[in-house]
Amino acid sequence: MTALSADHHPDQQFARQWAEARSGAFDAAFARRFEEHFPVLHGLFRRIYGERADGREALAEVVDLAAQSWQDRPAPLKRHDEHRAERPDWFESAQMLGGVCYVDRYAGSLAALHEHIGYFQELGLTYLHLMPLFRSPEGNNDGGYAVSSYREVDPQLGTMAELADLAAALREAGISLVVDFIFNHTSSEHEWAQKAVAGEPGYEDFYLIFEDRTLPDAYERTTREIFPDDHPGSFVQLPDGRWIWSTFYHFQWDLNYANPAVFRAMAGEMLFLANQGVEVLRMDAVAFIWKRLGTACESLPEAHLLLQAFNEVLRMAAPSLLFKSEAIVHPDEVIQYISPGECQISYNPLQMALTWEALATRDASLLQQALERRHALPAGTAWVNYVRSHDDIGWTFADEDAAELGIDGFAHRRFLNDFYVGRHPGSFARGAAFQENPRTGDARVAGTTASLAGIEKADAGGEDRVVLAHALAMSTGGMPLLYLGDEVAQLNDYYYRNRPGEAGDSRWVNRPHRPAESYQVRRDERTVAGRVFTRLTHLLQVRRETPEFAGNELIGFHEPHRSVLGFQRPGGAGVQARGGVTRVLVLANVGDDPVHVDAVTLSGFEVLAEDLIGGGTRDLREGLELPAHGIRWLRVSERVTTPA
Ligand code: GLC
Repeated sequence: MTALSADHHPDQQFARQWAEARSGAFDAAFARRFEEHFPVLHGLFRRIYGERADGREALAEVVDLAAQSWQDRPAPLKRHDEHRAERPDWFESAQMLGGVCYVDRYAGSLAALHEHIGYFQELGLTYLHLMPLFRSPEGNNDGGYAVSSYREVDPQLGTMAELADLAAALREAGISLVVDFIFNHTSSEHEWAQKAVAGEPGYEDFYLIFEDRTLPDAYERTTREIFPDDHPGSFVQLPDGRWIWSTFYHFQWDLNYANPAVFRAMAGEMLFLANQGVEVLRMDAVAFIWKRLGTACESLPEAHLLLQAFNEVLRMAAPSLLFKSEAIVHPDEVIQYISPGECQISYNPLQMALTWEALATRDASLLQQALERRHALPAGTAWVNYVRSHDDIGWTFADEDAAELGIDGFAHRRFLNDFYVGRHPGSFARGAAFQENPRTGDARVAGTTASLAGIEKADAGGEDRVVLAHALAMSTGGMPLLYLGDEVAQLNDYYYRNRPGEAGDSRWVNRPHRPAESYQVRRDERTVAGRVFTRLTHLLQVRRETPEFAGNELIGFHEPHRSVLGFQRPGGAGVQARGGVTRVLVLANVGDDPVHVDAVTLSGFEVLAEDLIGGGTRDLREGLELPAHGIRWLRVSERVTTPA
């Protein structure tokens, strides 16, 4: 094998000698990837853990784990790795469509999910995120985000073998399985947690435990409260009087990544999941994984280094796996997690929140600004565009962006919260407040798409808004992600208030059980479910057939009405390579009144445009009607002016 580095630092030398000693045992494929990725991983370890001997030991163990994991990787997954390597941009295609659901709520069990694969194919899903399905505490377990074992499936849902079977069946159907990697914290019932509080050697430093309030008080001077309804601050007290870091619920204890043994342990869990056939890991709560006194303890540089290091481990042992970032933070921070070497795909929380913002204000300016300014991504990465998730909607736009448009961020968030929980006069929305913090005035909003958009309240624009919001998620660039059940306009589920494990967490309002009756009538356009389903599935089909929607490139298009959002999609490299000069012009009206887009505004294009949604062609010399809450996807060509 080639030398890893010319650097003669003792630590580098150690690494080289050690790697050379090991490499004999590797198969050719692993050895090649090891050569490429080990130096990077080693560099990252040194940046995170310095020259610590335990850092070096953990690194050696991680590589051994990776080598073993590759050896154990089932042959079909190795073939799949090769297949993906032939098309590394597979997730940027216009054919991608994600779906998300809870196993129990949607199907009952992992075994029963097989019955829905036919429907997923009918929808065109290529990606399925199953909400947390690991063993977790009885009662409130934060919807499974408190994990007691990463190697055991919640027995009520099935077994790990069934998960692997399902992964294989989905892969066969062209659908990638996505599960959460909840790596910021474990449940307090996890074996490591139990051992840590018991002071078992090797585990004392797996979590952040403090004898008294001195350090917790010092940290809390600069951290923010995430779940204030559950406990103030970032710490909870143990029965013995000590304090333990818990960013989210009191039963979710943050892991201590400053301890290299924690990295090693979690790398083992990650590799285990990779070999079950999981194709994408949703990296939960990435912003919180590193803490430093005097900072917000969010999005610190080490959080990125850790993600990169996990990524390098995967590249060696499960090369086709992707990371999806879940960073619901300031847009400047969201973007930092997205790169080929860190998280290749990411939720797009800004577009999600501003879609709702635009619908409430009937003004597309803030969304237009965000699309023009904050949508671009590094090559080899993609957004995951969603209308809503299993979580609340947080208004994570940048105050400085809003200020440029004369909007005060704080007051605007207040308005949006009031609007979406239905307190604002004339609001069409029925949402629930989540984690309202009287001390800071902060709050977020929960609700299904249909309930937030006005269908629950029987507002005349409700159905159109559901369609419009999804149409945007399908057209700005990136993979649309559907919350399954929203395509048949499922409404809020208020029964959570009667379910003891859920009553205190209003996000359950937007996690209903599979709306079987709505699915039954999905072909009947006399029903709301039928109309929404028909319109959405039509859009999905058009999207799949529109190569301009691949990739992420977006060019703003200005239409003078404030309620109109406009942008152009030139398509990915594929479209350009075919000599295409077409683009898709997207025009959306978030207002309650129709808008006439005049001919002058459209005069930069050839006169005939293909109406992708409505069919036929449009003569742009006549201008265009945009109905209230209407959207158009037009295939246009730039006007070629012949020299006089
Ligand atoms: C993520 C999840 C959310 C959970 C939190 C803590 O934000 O989406 O549901 O409560 O992480 O794990």
